Amino acid sequence: MRKLLIGLGVVVVLIAGLIGGLLATGQIGTSTFPILLNTLFGVSGPAADDATVRQRYQVPEGFTLELYAADLPRARFLRFTAAGDLLVSRPGAGDIQLLRRDADGDGHPDARETLVSGLKKPLGLDIHGDWLYIAESNRIGRIRFDSASGTVSGDIQPVVEGLTDDGNHWSKTIRIGPDRKLYLAQGSTCNVCEEEDQRRATMMRFELDGSDPEIIATGLRNSVGFDWAPWNGALYATDNGRDMLGDDFPPCELNLVETGRFYGWPYYNGDNIPDPDMGADPLASERTPTPPAHGFRPHNAPLGMAFLTGDALPPAFRRSAVAALHGSWNRSTPDGYKVVSLHWTAAGIEERDFLSGFNRDGDISGRPVDVAQGPDGAIYVSDDYAGAIYRVAYGDTGASGSDQDMVLPTVSRLDKQPPAWLADADLPRMAESGRALYQRYQCQTCHEQGDNPVSLDGLSQRLGYRAVIDTLEAPQSPMPVFPLSEAERRELAVFLLWQPGHKQ
Ligand code: HEC
Repeated sequence: MRKLLIGLGVVVVLIAGLIGGLLATGQIGTSTFPILLNTLFGVSGPAADDATVRQRYQVPEGFTLELYAADLPRARFLRFTAAGDLLVSRPGAGDIQLLRRDADGDGHPDARETLVSGLKKPLGLDIHGDWLYIAESNRIGRIRFDSASGTVSGDIQPVVEGLTDDGNHWSKTIRIGPDRKLYLAQGSTCNVCEEEDQRRATMMRFELDGSDPEIIATGLRNSVGFDWAPWNGALYATDNGRDMLGDDFPPCELNLVETGRFYGWPYYNGDNIPDPDMGADPLASERTPTPPAHGFRPHNAPLGMAFLTGDALPPAFRRSAVAALHGSWNRSTPDGYKVVSLHWTAAGIEERDFLSGFNRDGDISGRPVDVAQGPDGAIYVSDDYAGAIYRVAYGDTGASGSDQDMVLPTVSRLDKQPPAWLADADLPRMAESGRALYQRYQCQTCHEQGDNPVSLDGLSQRLGYRAVIDTLEAPQSPMPVFPLSEAERRELAVFLLWQPGHKQ
């Protein structure tokens, strides 16, 4: 049987011990912890043996786990084509990757190509007929796509333009529904506020050419994943609960999205509990908030979700979905960081671990983003932290398989060599400008203040210039995209990375 080998091993154990020591002595805050490991994984260790892997990642009884693809930094959303190729969106790289189906049965894509590039932070994608729909942060477009050959032709045609992408949740998720209409979910600009752009924090529906826009549901803070239940066509969406109300409130949500409903944000959290910062809903006489169909644990950050179909799964999965929990940032100890399955039972929706082990007491080795069921019935999971795609299959995978092991390459976000512009740069001047930008954009509100700030201390030991500039170009929510020029991103990077006394 093919094995999933992860390049961790002894080194990580040693490092985890080291960090544990630092934590215990209070030298680093716990909020630094999940991020810190990222670089430490840049230390190459011996490949883990099967026993270590089995200990690290868990799947339910009867399922097998394999590393399907690696070396896909910041892989986000997934969509299978009719031919079984897998499309992967990468907002950070501005491209869509195409992973050729595993025709030779070695457990990995036969090839990998950049299908479309030069996009503005693409996240959502779907296919209808011979169109590939792509949601960039500020528009939806479509391009001719031939699934048989896995190629695009012509230019991207605009479908919906003029979307706003400022603030905390800039990504856009799209799906074509069973009613052959285009659905769009877009998150809020802020943690908790009244939106100026009434389309933010809603679910919208359009005709396939982008005409007849309609807001079908409001009060959805950040519904990054949604799908239709195959047994009754009901639309369900994940939603990320607000931050800054402590570790254990409010729950993240799974909502049953019905036309005309209001899902509470920003005036109510969880089971319609009034928000302490917002006061009474001014429209309370006109609308009643709909409570979630299911509550995920607070700050778990559910992103992609997919209903499962087919007879190949055990009976408990007959009415089920999987959801990727990206993991917490606004929490004193990390939580989430796994894929869960949701089971519709007579007693309600039951949540169970499906693919877990990415968080072992704060030692983070992956962050699940999206889930998709392949034509082979297996469940594929993207991980934007390890830059990997996993395949979870029930029973015999059916693929003939070779004994070729794949080792998950270690991830380093440090520069292999310093960027060329650094050589002639006036570093003191750039650092000063960077400091002014840091203050102007109030980076400290999230990075130094509040209960669980994401500390940037010791940043130069884990990120290089390229990685800091990438982060500023396509940040992880809730960090907003700032209107920075490339020169300004460099100045901020210099301020954060260069020189003792700044942010060391
Ligand atoms: C609204 C809150 C918020 C603001 C404002 C904000 N950030 Fe962030 N930032 C975050 C969060 C949250 C993360 C971690 C996201 C994650 O990995 O889940 C982050 C991550 C980062 C990282 C990567 C840290 C690492 O160790 O990987 C850098 C660098 C960074 N921010 C720089 C900045 C700069 C510079 C500014 C101001 C121009 C800024 N941030 C403003 C919330 C914020």
